[in-house]
Amino acid sequence: PSFEMGKRAGSRLGFVAFGSRLPAPRAAQLPRATICPVSFRKAPSGRFPCMLPREERFPMKALIPAAGLGTRFLPATKAQPKEMLLVVDRPVIQYVVEEGLASKADEVVIVNSRSKKAIEDHFTPDPDLVSTLRARGKDAYADEVERVGNYNVSYVYQEEPLGLGHAIWCAHEKTAGEPFYVLLGDVIVPDNQMLPAMQKVSDEHGGASVIAVMPVPDDQVHRFGIIVGEKLSDYVWKVDSLVEKPALEDAPSNLAVFGRYLLSPRVMELLADVKPGVGGEIQLTDALDEVLREEEMYALVIDPEDGFDTGTVESWLHTNNVLFERKQG
Ligand code: G1P
Repeated sequence: PSFEMGKRAGSRLGFVAFGSRLPAPRAAQLPRATICPVSFRKAPSGRFPCMLPREERFPMKALIPAAGLGTRFLPATKAQPKEMLLVVDRPVIQYVVEEGLASKADEVVIVNSRSKKAIEDHFTPDPDLVSTLRARGKDAYADEVERVGNYNVSYVYQEEPLGLGHAIWCAHEKTAGEPFYVLLGDVIVPDNQMLPAMQKVSDEHGGASVIAVMPVPDDQVHRFGIIVGEKLSDYVWKVDSLVEKPALEDAPSNLAVFGRYLLSPRVMELLADVKPGVGGEIQLTDALDEVLREEEMYALVIDPEDGFDTGTVESWLHTNNVLFERKQG
């Protein structure tokens, strides 16, 4: 199926009315005794998500896990984080941060590793560079450097590379019992329209979790989380279960988890107890599969034109070519 985002998505799905909202029935059912003051660690491990009273609630966060080793790009990533690789005219993570800031989230939280300081340098003000550029009449560059240095980005650290699920869990104090977005750092959505479209699907289904999925060819299935579900329309599926990186013969479909997630706070709670899965890593996909026992989840089917993988040398080159051509008009 072909899903068109941007203006065209607006006509199909309509644009999202923003405003923090949790699934109303759950909020109404929540006994006061289960309310968690700030950290979900203190919450009971019962069925209800840890939520603050409405007046004390935190705004949504967009989490960007960026602590991976970048193995597939070695030796290019020996001294440079893979998130800092150039895509046309800026590092790949800048696209992802800009997408997070363009969403309903009030803050982008990068889950970094201590050794990837270049990512933080990129989003830190550099007044010396700005004044040098201005003195040389290069105001357009100075404006860009100033803008990027002032983005509302914060950091938490994953001290050990224990997997994507563990990286997300490292930000649990930031999400503070609220729904949150996850934006994988090696996937680009140039028009920033995917999160609003996912938010709209969530709003239409009582605040349920929504994940973006993309049909992939058979030989790619083993690289991704794959969903099983029920097709509700050309663009929306109700998810029944997920499996991380199945062999093709075990894969229940070819709908691959693409790298954009809008998740309920219960997922964050479950991540605290997820055991290592595929590759010996704590997998986000396993927590998503587990939350399905308690909550509904939907998948938004996206078109390959709307999102770009930069996770392999081949896909990174392809993305550069396509986005460069688009930029040239
Ligand atoms: C991760 C997720 C996987 C998802 C993929 C999308 O895998 O675990 O479910 O399909 O991102 O890029 P990774 O690429 O980190 O191996």
